Amino acid sequence: MTMIYVEWKTEYEIGNSEIDAQHSFLFDIANRILRVLGTDEQILLLSELFDELFEYTQNHFRDEEVIWLPLGEEIFQAHRNKHLLLRAQLEAIWLSDSIFNRAKTAQSLYDWVSGLLHHVLNFDRGMNRQLLERV
Ligand SMILES: [Fe+2]
Ligand SMILES: [Fe+2]
Repeated sequence: MTMIYVEWKTEYEIGNSEIDAQHSFLFDIANRILRVLGTDEQILLLSELFDELFEYTQNHFRDEEVIWLPLGEEIFQAHRNKHLLLRAQLEAIWLSDSIFNRAKTAQSLYDWVSGLLHHVLNFDRGMNRQLLERV
C-alpha cells in the first residue's frame, strides 16, 4: 500500500473562500486515489476516482477563470495557459497508465498535486491579490 499522502493546510489558502474550498477538495480527491492504490478496491474505484479528479479540476479551472477575468485579457490568458498545462499533465498520467499498475504512476500523481500547490501559492494567490488591489 502506498504511503504517499498530500496534505492540505489552511496556510495554503489564498483568501477566496470558494476557491480555497475547491483547492482543498482537489487534494481530498487526490488522497482518495492515493489511498486506494495497492488495495483490493483499486480496480473497482480507480477509474471513477480519476474521472472525478479530472472533472473537478476542469470545473475548478473554469470557475477560477471567471473570477480572474476582470484582471484583463493578457493576465487572464497567461493564467489560463497554466491551467491548460496542468490539465494536459493530468491527462498524460492517465493516458500513460490508466490502471496505475506502475509504482511511478502514484509518484506522478503526487508530483502533479505538488505542481498544483505551486500554482496555488504562486499564481492563484497572486491573482487574488491583484483582484483585491483593484477595488
Ligand atoms: Fe486554483
Ligand atoms: Fe489557477
